Amino acid sequence: MCSIFGIIIKQKTETTPIESTLTALKMLEYRGYDSAGIASKGDKALQIWKTQNKDNKAEGVDMLRKQMTEMGVISFPTQIVIGHTRWATHGEISQKNAHPHSSQDGNFAIVHNGIIENYIELKEFLRSKGYYSVSDTDTEVLVNLIEYRWNETGRISFEVAVRQAVSEIEGAFAIAVITSSEDKMIVASRSGGLFVGITAYGFVIASDQSALVAHTKDCFEVESDCLVVLTPEKYEKRTIVSNQEVVPDIKKIELEISQIQKNGYEYFMQKEIFEQPKTLTDALRGRVRPFEGIIKLRGIEEHLRRIVQAKKITIIGCGTSWHAGLVGEYLFEQFTRIPVEVEYASEFVHRNPILGEKDIVIAISQSGETADTLEALALAKKSRATVIGLCNVVSSKIARMAGVGVYLHVGPEISVASTKAFTGQVAVLTAIALLVGRQKGTITESDYMRHITELAELPSVVEKYLPYFDIVAKEIAYEQLHSDHALYLGRGYNFPVALEGALKLKEISYIHAEGYPAAEMKHGPIALIDEKMPVIVIAPQGDETYKKIIGNIQEIRARSGRVIAIATEGDTEIVSLVEKVIYIPRASEHLIPIIAVVPLQLIAYHNAVMKGLNPDKPRHLAKSVTV
Ligand code: G6P
Repeated sequence: MCSIFGIIIKQKTETTPIESTLTALKMLEYRGYDSAGIASKGDKALQIWKTQNKDNKAEGVDMLRKQMTEMGVISFPTQIVIGHTRWATHGEISQKNAHPHSSQDGNFAIVHNGIIENYIELKEFLRSKGYYSVSDTDTEVLVNLIEYRWNETGRISFEVAVRQAVSEIEGAFAIAVITSSEDKMIVASRSGGLFVGITAYGFVIASDQSALVAHTKDCFEVESDCLVVLTPEKYEKRTIVSNQEVVPDIKKIELEISQIQKNGYEYFMQKEIFEQPKTLTDALRGRVRPFEGIIKLRGIEEHLRRIVQAKKITIIGCGTSWHAGLVGEYLFEQFTRIPVEVEYASEFVHRNPILGEKDIVIAISQSGETADTLEALALAKKSRATVIGLCNVVSSKIARMAGVGVYLHVGPEISVASTKAFTGQVAVLTAIALLVGRQKGTITESDYMRHITELAELPSVVEKYLPYFDIVAKEIAYEQLHSDHALYLGRGYNFPVALEGALKLKEISYIHAEGYPAAEMKHGPIALIDEKMPVIVIAPQGDETYKKIIGNIQEIRARSGRVIAIATEGDTEIVSLVEKVIYIPRASEHLIPIIAVVPLQLIAYHNAVMKGLNPDKPRHLAKSVTV
């Protein structure tokens, strides 16, 4: 949610600081793309360039680059630059609300991620002191407060002014501030999620480590309640409130540039869908070992006894991660017989949940920084439940707060709509459920052996079917192009898949879509069915719900609905009942979600592309919802 990048250098670099900032912002744009902007320190004054994303095509950074190229300022002589891409919270999407924001007298410029909760009081206070805001943002209030404190303290120290101002604000934030009067950049955070990269030519800062990799692999985090003062030569990290020096924990970034590039694909979403055979392999590698007959999950090994003895498992997450959690509910109940509840993280925190020492809470989050999931996790920790994190981003906030957990290892997911993280989450949940089930004795040894073998083979199954899924999905997407609505139906394990398929279509194709348990259709959605309504039914053979699903298909047909079925290869019966079939291989019912979701991801993807939409950056959405 909003991205920050900055650079401060002591010597000339191959690419100019502004060029580097534009390149990094393009990479970070998935975090928010309502507007983009850059501020840099010239000889005497600060310069700011910004632009809003006008047509929802998410080309903000490209537009900014174009403008700056036309103005001839890409090689503007500067050693210090900060940049930002915005996901609007306070104030409409407009040029005036775009970051960076300048202080009233132009002495400071700021970029900010987060929300300043007491900005109205501060705005009033500043107004009484003669400071007026130009924008509607909370951010401008902070930069004016910095300037006010700077003036008040005799203009002696940039650092003192920033420290004082940030101590007065309430809420979580990450900021980078520059001034016209000193060759310094100050970054501060009350939420973490800001990183400083150390290079031979100076320092780079970013809200995501992926934007640092082009410069360096050595970085440290600006943890919550810390502030870092950067000059071209050195850095100093201190606590905000007590002003104590903190020794940074410098770590190596475990990312390769190729992981954050499209590598020949048109969009990241396409790349991430097609990566799934590999990402599933990576998620299971060394963990699911059919030849030895074991599942090894080091992250939860020490806590296995507590999980086996759990009274209840509560799974929390948002968006796609919540859908993976729903599949988890079926998995745990089938294999471990432990009761499971799946909660939206945002609801969980306001429900005064009943949790105790014997409970297990699993927080699922691709990014590991979703604010609601983080808050829910903090609440679960207080209740003394055992908390497990299922995150993709290593060392992310949720992963660190949980302390115990399993990483997905599916590599960076850049496209806003989550794909490979979902299949990775379900694969890891399957491994955990099988492991716990075996320990608990709620699964027979022969079933366990059969299931781990099948799980280990899953990546190659997905690989084999992907080219075929792509072709059929494209045809379906084309036929659906002009539909305004779509219904997705599934039963049991495939109900969450129906929800996920509908979410993908809504998110990136802007078609109103609903996911429903197939039998519930009769209690409402059936009223919507007519000859224009595509109904996608996940109808695999092999469990007792198949016959019932066929019944549901008949009900849709009787009302002239257009059915597209995801069916088991060899099911010739279904062909006469539906408009189109996507065949999936025969597999155990608990593994169907990982296979069946892939064509649904592809339908949404192709539909968006055919409409000329950018599937990587759907309107109004952001990859990490940190507010
Ligand atoms: C946003 C993203 C979704 C994602 C959800 C949860 O809404 O657009 O793709 O599923 O956040 O994110 P998390 O990182 O916690 O899994």
